[in-house]
Amino acid sequence: MSILPITVYGDQILREIAKPVENINGEVIEKIQDMFLTMRNASGIGLAANQVGWDKQVFVIDLSVLEEYSDHKPVVMINPKIAESSDELVIYEEGCLSLPYLRADVERPESILIKYLDTDEKEIELEVDDWFARVIQHEYDHLIGKMIPDRVEPQIKKSLQKDLLKIMKRQIDPEYPITEK
Ligand code: NI
Repeated sequence: MSILPITVYGDQILREIAKPVENINGEVIEKIQDMFLTMRNASGIGLAANQVGWDKQVFVIDLSVLEEYSDHKPVVMINPKIAESSDELVIYEEGCLSLPYLRADVERPESILIKYLDTDEKEIELEVDDWFARVIQHEYDHLIGKMIPDRVEPQIKKSLQKDLLKIMKRQIDPEYPITEK
């Protein structure tokens, strides 16, 4: 297993639509293990495949570091689809390993119905809410090339520009490996 460098804002792959996984083989499983290792090394709670330069529809989540999710089991979602979203919207502050040190309020549906494949190619359907729903939506956004700045009000996005530029120029020093410019 290896810790992989994390892609950051400005890296083209973060803007691309991820491709479905056709075959959950040993290579895919190995990559998923690398993703967990990379995410934990960076103290993240979610990581999408394109954040380690892999253009596939995969993300991993481990919420167990959050107090109210201490018994949460780490989860891998392959080829996920958000099938339903609640009308109720909630605002929370989000961060992202591809946007080191940046935080912004993002409004999202409070609960969703998510469908995905697990590593045994079993089809799973889950109704989730609160932080689990939020992190899934954040990671799902990565798979369609969207990031936090695309989900905030225009004036907030404007206020983030300076920090985004710093990230693109690597004028930041996160405590985990990131890609080179
Ligand atoms: Ni992110």
